[in-house]
Amino acid sequence: MTQKKRIQEAQGFRAVILAAGKGTRMKSALPKVLHKACGRSLLGHVLTVCAGVGATKLIPILGHGRQEVLQDLATYRESLKLSIEDVEQKQLLGTGDALRAALPALEGDDSLVLILNGDGPLVTEASLQALLAAHEKEKADLTLAVMTLENPFGYGRISLSGKNVKKIVEEKEASEKEKKIKLVNGGIYVAKAAFLKEFLKKLQPSKKTGEFYLTDLVALGAAKKKKIRAFAMSPEELSGVNDQEQLAEVAAVLRQRILRKWMLAGVTMEDPTTTYIDADVGLAEGVVLEPGVHLYGKTRVEKGAHIRANSYLEDAVVGEGASIGPFARLRPGTEIGEKAKIGNFVEIKKSRIGAESKVSHLSYIGDAEIGIDVNVGCGFITCNYDGKNKHKTIIGDYVFVGSDVQAVAPLKIGNNAYVASGTTLTRDVPAGSLAIARQKQENKEGYAERIRARMLAIAKKKES
Ligand code: UD1
Ligand code: CA
Repeated sequence: MTQKKRIQEAQGFRAVILAAGKGTRMKSALPKVLHKACGRSLLGHVLTVCAGVGATKLIPILGHGRQEVLQDLATYRESLKLSIEDVEQKQLLGTGDALRAALPALEGDDSLVLILNGDGPLVTEASLQALLAAHEKEKADLTLAVMTLENPFGYGRISLSGKNVKKIVEEKEASEKEKKIKLVNGGIYVAKAAFLKEFLKKLQPSKKTGEFYLTDLVALGAAKKKKIRAFAMSPEELSGVNDQEQLAEVAAVLRQRILRKWMLAGVTMEDPTTTYIDADVGLAEGVVLEPGVHLYGKTRVEKGAHIRANSYLEDAVVGEGASIGPFARLRPGTEIGEKAKIGNFVEIKKSRIGAESKVSHLSYIGDAEIGIDVNVGCGFITCNYDGKNKHKTIIGDYVFVGSDVQAVAPLKIGNNAYVASGTTLTRDVPAGSLAIARQKQENKEGYAERIRARMLAIAKKKES
């Protein structure tokens, strides 16, 4: 049995995520935990890792910007398929107060509780697993993740007595001597629910700041001979986001992890330093990504598809063996069929392109359905928007669309039809027919010579 299964089946555990803080240092209108790294909110990263490690229930504590955060939570309720019971912290009185708000949600069940700061998105499943296992093995009341930092500024400093943690002193409370301590609190804890129930009600506000520090639980517990242990984790996994610079640093680490995961899964990246892939993207074996490719949102790329340089895909699906770009943009809701080819300077939005169809150059396709083996010439435009509403363009199988064609939607083109170059389509095209709508060409013989002579005469007049 895996370690994860053992912990899950032994008791199951709930995860409380502290996410009510404002994030003043971010200097941003957005609540801190909603800032995104690799397409996912910081909160989303923490929820996802908790779900991955086997939490049976997630309890995010919300406060600042709660309505906005709830919207983000809704997406995780859907994707994680796990009970998420959010709790409101009415006044932001500190991390201890935030955890106190979770107490009602912890009633009636004495299993373990994992507690994490919502601003620490880098912790991995493996490390949480190890933390839970160490806690179990030691039969501790509280175990906290710690790290050693050359510059411990801003973090809670740890005092040990043998193996036991005696207290945590916050930066704002620390004496000059305590500030020199390099062993610091990483903001991830495992506790027996009973321990929390006993000691949370004893927390007192700081005399300096008026805040209730979660970290004061340590001194309270230690005074009652509770077993409180430290568990070392890497500083990278414990780094929290407090300002925009740290957000960028954390995003860079996440990005490296994502790139590495896909390369090990058989994706070829010609230049990982210029390749951007969001956390929720899915790639298959044999996919090739050229330099400067951006794959965002829930984009999926199937086996052997080739995404050429500088293409930008968002919530798009690319079928097996398809070729995209260079310089293509696939916007949300785009589905490209197997072996289809989308060439340079093509933008596609909310459209389906059938297998083996080609849109090779300079086109805009929006709200369209295109069948199989269709050839779309250079400069095709769906005129899908009338200023108020969007309309659909439906193109059947084996259609040939010439160059410089505009389709004023709503519009249908039947199977096997031809559309002549330069045509502006305003009506449906029946299957098997040729549509042509352009001025008839007139050739005026000898005219070129007459124009040249006139130009020459004008030039001479100017000179004299
Ligand atoms: C906290 C720890 C510190 C630790 C550090 C690790 C406390 C008192 N300090 O400090 O020991 O070294 O994390 O990163 O816990 N929050 C609420 N409600 C509040 C206040 C905060 O939900 O009233 C949430 C925030 O949204 C955030 C988390 O708690 O996700 C941590 O708060 P933050 O203010 O960032 O704590 P730090 O100063 O980093
Ligand atoms: Ca923090």
